[in-house]
Amino acid sequence: MVSTHPIGVQHAGSQYLPPRRNTSPNQELLPLTARVNSHGCLEIGGCDITTLVQQFGSPLYILDEETLRLACQQYRDACKQYYQGESQVLYASKAWNCLAVCAIVASEGLGIDVVSGGELYTALSAGVNPEKIYLHGNNKSRSELNLAIASGVTIVVDNWYELKTLVEIAQESAENSDPQSIPIMLRLTPGIECHTHEYIRTGHLDSKFGFDPNDLDEVFTFVSQQSALNCVGLHAHIGSQIFERQPHQDLAQVMVQWLQDAAKYGLNVTQLNVGGGLGIRYVESDDPPSIDEWVKAICEVVQAACIEANLPLPKLLCEPGRSLIATACVTAYTIGSTKVVPEIRTYVAVDGGMSDNPRPITYQSQYRAVVANKMSAPLTETVTIAGKHCESGDILIKNAQLPKTEPGDILVVMGTGAYNYSMASNYNRLSRPAAVVVANGEANLILQRETYQDLIRQDCLPERLKK
Ligand code: LLP
Repeated sequence: MVSTHPIGVQHAGSQYLPPRRNTSPNQELLPLTARVNSHGCLEIGGCDITTLVQQFGSPLYILDEETLRLACQQYRDACKQYYQGESQVLYASKAWNCLAVCAIVASEGLGIDVVSGGELYTALSAGVNPEKIYLHGNNKSRSELNLAIASGVTIVVDNWYELKTLVEIAQESAENSDPQSIPIMLRLTPGIECHTHEYIRTGHLDSKFGFDPNDLDEVFTFVSQQSALNCVGLHAHIGSQIFERQPHQDLAQVMVQWLQDAAKYGLNVTQLNVGGGLGIRYVESDDPPSIDEWVKAICEVVQAACIEANLPLPKLLCEPGRSLIATACVTAYTIGSTKVVPEIRTYVAVDGGMSDNPRPITYQSQYRAVVANKMSAPLTETVTIAGKHCESGDILIKNAQLPKTEPGDILVVMGTGAYNYSMASNYNRLSRPAAVVVANGEANLILQRETYQDLIRQDCLPERLKK
């Protein structure tokens, strides 16, 4: 007997049903392997969430490998289906950069976008092919640039300062009789507005990222004179959590125009990277296009614009982060105290909060939650889920619809795979939670829970302060 929970989880007895492969992960609330077992408990990847919490502790990030892989495959296959030229999907690893995640996405044939020496080091340590790694950043340090050059990754040059620094580095190595040919892309600011939170909008002209397109002439002239720089492509990114297709279609159009301009300077620019930005469904009212629809929309515009301009098709790159990984992960918390403010609200507190998920307090992001051990219970309560930090704004969800809860219940917040662990902090000296990857009834640790010893690992107590 299969019945449906208000948020779309299937009740399927203890049977482990195969994931629904015909859906786009970014349009779902829960990972695709989510099921309710005969005990009325939530399972993901064939693992009972309450058992995982007993085994690995609380809070716990739970990453569903199947959902992540399916999203990778959908991006990759849609590019192949709709684009007649070469293509490469990159995972924007700022969403969640760690060894296991890099290894999974790389095994699906994706490349990786990194934005710091640390992310680059992690991707390389995970065994990602450097030829498929692209380094971003608006203020890369010399040591980050040196690491990128030494490892053979492509550098996405953001500004004049960086361009000139790269030329200097190349000159220095030429003096040491080690001439370089550094693969670079140029990041440009397209001047395209899109409707998303101000902090995660990057494509409008007043942005800290990228060259001003009005400087194109100067930039292309300069780059064409540098034998040490091999400009392979152009890049732009307009923002994140975007639900409309039009901004990316406009972007594709603008970028093909830039490609045409580059050719006039004798630059053999053969790659076009349209960035990431496809949104996901955090709450029922969010209505993003599917991965397939998004890719199709972009491919069609690039192809049509190239035909019109009589240009050969460039290698098309895109670099989604959120829409690849957000839905694949949930965070399980243990419910503790409750405070009833009569006629105003009821606060239900969990054992984590803004340190493991800073998105609600930073962007007023909305989330949905279920109680993993009460999946079949009626949703009778409207409560506010509070974190445990010493900060009134540390609220994870306002007006969550839950069954009646009690201490020890396991609250599962959905859609936490992107920009949660990667933005987590130790505020109030909370240790960062563990993370597991689940698949076919097996759970493996991918990030250890921090201990109190970890918290003081970088502390130094000068001799004179010791008792
Ligand atoms: N490429 C570049 C150059 C980016 O800056 C970003 C995101 C992406 C790709 C991936 O975008 P996505 O597909 O994930 O939308 N912390 C914010 C999001 C910041 C996004 C930063 N850049 C949040 O939690 O919503």
